[in-house]
This record gives sequence, C-alpha cells and structure tokens, in this order.
Amino acid sequence: MGADVETAVSALLRGELAILPTETVYGLGCDAGDARAVAAVFQAKGRPQFNPLIAHVTGIQAALAFAELDARARRLAEAFWPGPLTLVAPIRDTAVVCDLARAGLDTVAVRAPDHPLIQQVLGALGRPVAAPSANRSGRPSPTTHADAIEETGAFASASLDGGPCRVGLESTVLGQVRGELVLLRPGAVTREEIEQIAGPVASGLGEGAASPGRLARHYAPSKPLRLDVAQPSAGAAWLAFGPAPEGRPHTFNLSPGGDLAEAAANLFSFLRAADRADALTIEAAPIPRVGLGEAINDRLQRAAGKVG
Ligand code: TXA
Ligand code: MG
Repeated sequence: MGADVETAVSALLRGELAILPTETVYGLGCDAGDARAVAAVFQAKGRPQFNPLIAHVTGIQAALAFAELDARARRLAEAFWPGPLTLVAPIRDTAVVCDLARAGLDTVAVRAPDHPLIQQVLGALGRPVAAPSANRSGRPSPTTHADAIEETGAFASASLDGGPCRVGLESTVLGQVRGELVLLRPGAVTREEIEQIAGPVASGLGEGAASPGRLARHYAPSKPLRLDVAQPSAGAAWLAFGPAPEGRPHTFNLSPGGDLAEAAANLFSFLRAADRADALTIEAAPIPRVGLGEAINDRLQRAAGKVG
C-alpha cells in the first residue's frame, strides 16, 4: 500500500474527507457510517440537498453485509462488479451506512468501483465509503484529479491521483422495487447489457429518471410534524436547535451549540426518535436557512408533507 493510500485511509478513519478516483468520475469520500463526516461532504458540495449517496465497497461480500441484494441484483453484481453499476436495495445494517448518507431512506445504494486506488483504500478501511461525485453542486462531475481538486479539494484532507477516469460517465443506478428492477439513472452500463443478464428492466417513474434522489419516498414520521416552533407545546416531542431548557421531556436537540453540520448529522435519527417518543405530535425549532440549513429545512418540509 502506497504512502498516499495510507494517508487517505487515516483521514477517513479520523472522519475527514478524501478525493478518490473511480473508473467513472472522481468522488469526494468519507466513512459511510460517520454522520458528521457525511454532513461535511454535503457542506463541501455547496447548495446541499441531502441526496442519498452511494456506498462504495470492495465487492459483493462486503455489500451483502449491509444491503439486501435479491437474486437478480446479485447476478448483476457478479457480472458487472467491480464496475459502473450501482444497485439500490433495502438496508440491513443502518450503522454501516448512516441515516444521513441514505437521506433517511430504508434503502442503500451500493457499488464496487473499478479502480485500484479506491479498492486499496476500501480494503484497508474495512468499511464502505460514501461518496458523491467530487464536483460542487450544479457543476459537471470531475474526471481528472486536477478538476476534482479545483472543485472540492479545499474540503479534503487527502486526495489520490488515479489519472483520468477511464469511463468518464457516472454509474448506472438500478433499484429493486417490489421485486422489479427499475432504471433510476442511466449510466455507463447500458440497459441492454443489464437485460441480457437479468431480464426486463422497468424505466424510472416520471421525473425520477432525471432526478432519482427526489423520486424515492423520503422518510416521513407517522406523527404530525409542525415546523418553526420556537416554544414547543406541552406534550409534543421537540426537535430543538441551539440552547434549550434542560430537562424538558421528549426533547431531541439537533445541536445544542447551534452547529448546522451537527444538526444535519442528527436530523434523520432524531426524527425517528421523536416519532417513537411517547408524544402525539412532533414540533421542530426554527433552523436558519443558510448553508446546510437549507437542506435541513427542505427535508423537514418534506417530512411534514409540505413539499411533494
Ligand atoms: O459513478 C458514480 O456513480 C459516481 C462515483 C463517485 O461512484 N458517484 C455519483 O454519486 O455519481 P452521486 O451522489 O453524484 O449520485 C448518486 C446517485 C444519485 O442519483 C442518487 O439519487 C442515487 O444515486 N441514489 C443513491 N442512493 C439512493 C437510494 N437509496 N435510492 C434511490 N437513488 C439513490
Ligand atoms: Mg453527481
């Protein structure tokens, strides 16, 4: 293992970010189980959306430890991994790929990338790496080390130069939906290639093809959720933010210190905890609509049923 691979692995173990080459595009990676690190990735992308991220693994065995790949998905993994195919499957172990990396979904996207450097990192790390493409939001995916550094290098404490990406186009994203395979994002592996191995594939639904992250049903609590509540009602579970009274029952403080990255890291798991609490409703404190706060508010609004 080269010295720079070791540097990247120790950065990831410390909860920091690393720019990593894959055969498709460069990724901005972190430990998929570390919600603070995942929040930093969203922050680095700018105009963060909390789209669910791909968990990168060495191969099928590593994927099966936390993702429930069905028989067809396994056949595809055997045929195309390592390679540019991402499979979305029910999550089995939510500690390995944290709630924020999955945007609160009960599914996980997983793929084994085909590049020796990221494979060495994954092998040494022994856990999946969550990585979106290393571009700032709204910009093209970087396919050279220099482009990746220009986009998000300032946020990474390590980077590996793996040369220009061989494929240069993002992976194909395929979901298992009620026993059917659905094409969520066209990409480097073609529909024809997939159908040869696994039979018919359904197209993404409506706007989903353009924006699969938006198509997926996002986590919504079963209790009514009210937003921007500075003074919580008696009996409501409260998602607080910033200084809050000590000892109030059913209070889940997203960040007592008012830190948006910490709030993002806690958001989905605290929403679930508030839903489980012995209270009839959930109320959420106002959260500043700046930086990561935009994505936090977007997700809270979706959870409250305010956005489609
Ligand atoms: O080639 C690639 O896929 C590159 C390299 C770095 O691996 N990664 C990449 O990541 O393009 P990103 O974050 O830019 O795109 C991930 C795609 C998004 O379209 C997202 O909506 C979808 O995967 N996705 C991730 N998890 C999902 C889930 N649980 N359900 C549905 N779609 C999911
Ligand atoms: Mg991208």
